Amino acid sequence: MHNTFASAGEEPLVAQLGAHHRNRVLKHLRSLSLHDLRLRFGYAITDEALQRYVRRLHFSRDALFGIFDEAAQIVALGHLGFDQGARAKTTAEFGVSVLPQMQRQGFGTRLLQRAAMHARNRGATQLMMTYVAENDALRRMALRAGMKLAHDHHEPRAFLNLQPPTAASLMDETFSEMLAAIDLGFRVANADVATHRITSA
Ligand SMILES: CC(C)(COP(=O)(O)OP(=O)(O)OC[C@H]1O[C@@H](n2cnc3c(N)ncnc32)[C@H](O)[C@@H]1OP(=O)(O)O)[C@@H](O)C(=O)NCCC(=O)NCCS
Repeated sequence: MHNTFASAGEEPLVAQLGAHHRNRVLKHLRSLSLHDLRLRFGYAITDEALQRYVRRLHFSRDALFGIFDEAAQIVALGHLGFDQGARAKTTAEFGVSVLPQMQRQGFGTRLLQRAAMHARNRGATQLMMTYVAENDALRRMALRAGMKLAHDHHEPRAFLNLQPPTAASLMDETFSEMLAAIDLGFRVANADVATHRITSA
C-alpha cells in the first residue's frame, strides 16, 4: 500500500464517489479487520451483508467520500446518509472507516470535515455519528472535531452543529471537489497504466 500523503505532509484530497466506485468501496470494506467492521457497522457483519450494503448504496440521495492511494484504492471511506426518516432533512448521519495501516494520520478527521461541508451545503443543521461504547478512537476524533457527545450507553451518539450554507461554503465545496476529481482521474489513469504494464509483461 502506498502512502502518498503522510510523508509529503500534505492534506489528502477527498473525492465524492459515484456508482462506478462500488467495487472499490467493497474492496476497502473487505480490507478492514473484523474488529473494525464491527466498530463501523455496530455488529458483526457478514461478507454477504457487506455486499448487500454496497449494492444498495444510494449515491444520489446520500454522499460517499473517499481518500485514495496512488494505486487508486480507497484508504478511507465516509458515508453521509440522508435517510428518509422524520429528521432526515435536518440531520445527516455519518459513518467512516480508515484502513488499519492508515489510521491516526488525520484521514478520519478529513472525511468528517468534508462530510460536514457537504451536509451544511445540503441544508442539514446537524451531523450525527452513532458509535459503539468501546470505540475510543471515534469518541476522541469526535471530541477533537468539536462534536457534542450524547451519553446513551446502548447507542452513544456524537453531534456536530452546522451553519447555514453561504455562497462561500458552496464555492469552497465545488472547488475542493474539482481538485479531488482531477487528482483521482490521474490516479486511476496511472494505476491502469501500471496494471497494463504488469499484465502485458
Ligand atoms: C475511528 C476512525 C475512523 C478514526 O480514523 P483515523 O484516521 O485514525 O482518525 P484521525 O487520525 O483523524 O484521528 C482523530 C483523533 O482520534 C484519535 N485516535 C485515532 N485512533 C485512535 C485509537 N485507536 N485510540 C485512541 N485515539 C485514537 C487520534 O489520536 C486523534 O486524536 P489526537 O489528534 O488527539 O491524537 C478509525 O479508527 C477507524 O476506521 N476505525 C474503525 C471503524 C470505526 O470505528 N468507524 C467509526 C464508526 S462509524
